[in-house]
Amino acid sequence: MPRSRIAPTPRRDAIPLVRAFSRDLARAGGLLSPHFLSSGMPLGEARCLYELGHADGLEISTLARYLELDLGYVSRAVSRLAARRLVTKRVAPGDARARSVVVTDQGRRLIAALDRQMDRRLGAWLAAKPRPEIDRLADGLAAAFGSRDARIAIRSPRPGAIGHIIARHGEFYVAERGYPALFEHVVVQAFSDFVTGFSPPRDRIFVAERGGAFAGSVAVKGRASATAQLRFLLVEPDARGRGLGRRLVQRVIDHARRSGERRIVLDTASDLDAARALYASLGFCRTASVSGEPYLPRGVASEHWELAL
Ligand SMILES: CC(C)(COP(=O)(O)OP(=O)(O)OC[C@H]1O[C@@H](n2cnc3c(N)ncnc32)[C@H](O)[C@@H]1OP(=O)(O)O)[C@@H](O)C(=O)NCCC(=O)NCCS
Repeated sequence: MPRSRIAPTPRRDAIPLVRAFSRDLARAGGLLSPHFLSSGMPLGEARCLYELGHADGLEISTLARYLELDLGYVSRAVSRLAARRLVTKRVAPGDARARSVVVTDQGRRLIAALDRQMDRRLGAWLAAKPRPEIDRLADGLAAAFGSRDARIAIRSPRPGAIGHIIARHGEFYVAERGYPALFEHVVVQAFSDFVTGFSPPRDRIFVAERGGAFAGSVAVKGRASATAQLRFLLVEPDARGRGLGRRLVQRVIDHARRSGERRIVLDTASDLDAARALYASLGFCRTASVSGEPYLPRGVASEHWELAL
């Protein structure tokens, strides 16, 4: 691959650390066995199956190039996968002479079973390590190897996060938006009620983190009549405009659906244009508006929005 710029020199100990990590990972993941996770195939063949399962048809030469493997090796691996009815060949789109390889339903079932086994093995391996270090490792891996979106992780709150969410709400609304100081008291009270009656799995708090630092939050509370209430949506100013607010609200919608809720309700304010546009774009509708609340600035109304699931 041509190099367009000089690669940065890694920290002195980065390479031996990564090598030690990958040796440990290979052992813990069972990668060294000639029968990868009891699949009856070596890792190279299983990797061919995996890549084919994550593409919509690949030619053998493309697969070999991508995996940087010998064409003959990949060709024989694909023949063995085909003999087990895990893959099949079809005419490549746009070239009647070329054949692309696609995974069969049986192949997809095997990939899913291998994924589950691997998740279990690595989950057990990581669970034996100290949690904060693993969280930092995950953040580092997301920052170095993940997509732009994946650099912000959404997870349950760590100790201290709840106090931080309350503080950021106070700072944002009172200091930045000029809301009356009473608003901060209302947030403290609301969060206190929320945490006191906290009842998982229906109730959840989601915290977004970038490189271990707070980037945003949202919470969801189960109410009567299969109703979920969305609360405490906030994205840090430097993380805005990149889809995080949408990811957080979508997380709440997905969670509410899985919990069997029939609708989601929320309260917002008439001056929060970005939030209102976000809610509207996801199908929420404003159902009520109340003026004159003492915790809101003059001329700003409290609004109730709902989404039927
Ligand atoms: C509302 C908020 C959470 C959005 O977070 P975000 O990460 O910037 O939002 P996204 O990048 O995911 O954008 C999602 C949608 O929000 C709307 N939106 C975001 N920024 C906007 C802006 N400045 N003006 C108008 N609409 C905006 C758009 O509909 C956008 O969709 P689009 O990108 O397809 O146009 C964020 O602005 C925020 O924290 N605001 C202050 C706190 C707040 O209002 N909380 C809601 C309390 S009810």
